[in-house]
Amino acid sequence: MDVTKLRCCEFSCLILLCVLPATSKASWMWLGIASLGTVNQPNDLDLPASSSSNPVLPRPTSPGESVCSLVPGLATEQRAVCERRPEAIPVIGAGARLGIAECQRQFREERWNCTIHDQEQNAFGKVLKTGSRETAFVYAITSAGVVHAVTKTCSLGNLTDCSCDDSRNGLVNSEGWQWGGCSDNLDYGITVGRQFVDAAEVRKGEEEEGKANRVRSAMNLHNNEVGRQALRQFMSRQCRCHGVSGSCTIKSCWNTMPDFLAVGDYLKNRYLQSIEILNRPTKRRLRRKDRGMRKVPIAQDEMVHLERSPNYCVRDASRGIMGTTGRECNRTSAAADSCDLLCCGRGYNTQEVRIVERCDCKFIWCCEVKCRVCETITDLYTCK
Ligand SMILES: *[C@@H]1O[C@H](CO)[C@@H](O)[C@H](O)[C@H]1NC(C)=O
Ligand SMILES: *[C@@H]1O[C@H](CO)[C@@H](O)[C@H](O)[C@H]1NC(C)=O
Ligand SMILES: *[C@@H]1O[C@H](CO)[C@@H](O)[C@H](O)[C@H]1NC(C)=O
Repeated sequence: MDVTKLRCCEFSCLILLCVLPATSKASWMWLGIASLGTVNQPNDLDLPASSSSNPVLPRPTSPGESVCSLVPGLATEQRAVCERRPEAIPVIGAGARLGIAECQRQFREERWNCTIHDQEQNAFGKVLKTGSRETAFVYAITSAGVVHAVTKTCSLGNLTDCSCDDSRNGLVNSEGWQWGGCSDNLDYGITVGRQFVDAAEVRKGEEEEGKANRVRSAMNLHNNEVGRQALRQFMSRQCRCHGVSGSCTIKSCWNTMPDFLAVGDYLKNRYLQSIEILNRPTKRRLRRKDRGMRKVPIAQDEMVHLERSPNYCVRDASRGIMGTTGRECNRTSAAADSCDLLCCGRGYNTQEVRIVERCDCKFIWCCEVKCRVCETITDLYTCK
């Protein structure tokens, strides 16, 4: 049995039971909240632990049945990628999870806080139906997450058909140093990301919903690419010195991917400057809505959206909006988490909470730590 088959088999064996809500509105992002067992998940990625309430990937019931046909919401081409590289599926799931976690970090203080809906198969719920700038951010960050996870896993040697990019190793750069070590193979990650993530739009645009959604598909594809290119922009070089006691007579360098937090900060900034585009449903080409700027082409690093953001203040289940009632706000902050802004002028409730913690700890030789128990009372503010 070759290695690919072996990995594939391990993968299927670890998949647990099926608890899936039946809907046709699934998307691959669902992989980010599904439990995938313990398979091949890069553990140096800072991922939130999946909770036991999360949906779980189904297990094939007959020997001939493939895992890929059981993952809900995969487009035809995505299923083909899955068949070719089943081992990549958990990595793609880890990438989606990385994107989701970063989205929640970036939006933790805002009215829309990147809420995840465990029970819906696209993870973000109905909010993604609106072509808003929040939707644009979700596509960019999850797309970037996939490239990041795939590339990192390649570098760790945990995918069979990729590894570090050592194509230049041994070559001497014009600055005098030598390529060496493990360069992150970003091109491979981007290729897999494009193949898999973008394939979701082919289905939507061409088959399922016909021409009406072309511009929305084009928006998603553009934002997916914004996410991928963000990684390229932040690639950096690391070097190590060799030679007599670190004299640096020989220096070898390799390219390394950015920390995902930097990608999140960058994409959040792109989000704030996202460009509204014209909604001309039958056209694929993106054009600015702003008349004065029509002639300026949309750059590859500009995020785009089709619709104004909905009002995230008030709960609206039909649009997947949770509202901000019950959210914790900060009375002294002037930012988005201030009670004024977060509660949308409705006011807030004040609650006294007692916090009991260990304090004044002393180290007593040897080997004991003694602490007092301190009690503090603070106010907790939540939106009405
Ligand atoms: C990578 O694979 C090795 C075995 O080939 C395994 O021990 C290790 O845990 C894997 N690492 C990750 C991050 O999945
Ligand atoms: C987002 O806000 C909702 C309430 O609107 C809350 O239940 C949820 O825990 C928040 N999520 C995060 C990740 O902060
Ligand atoms: C509230 O905001 C202020 C000012 O930004 C900050 O110093 C403080 O730590 C925040 N309080 C909480 C509980 O987050």
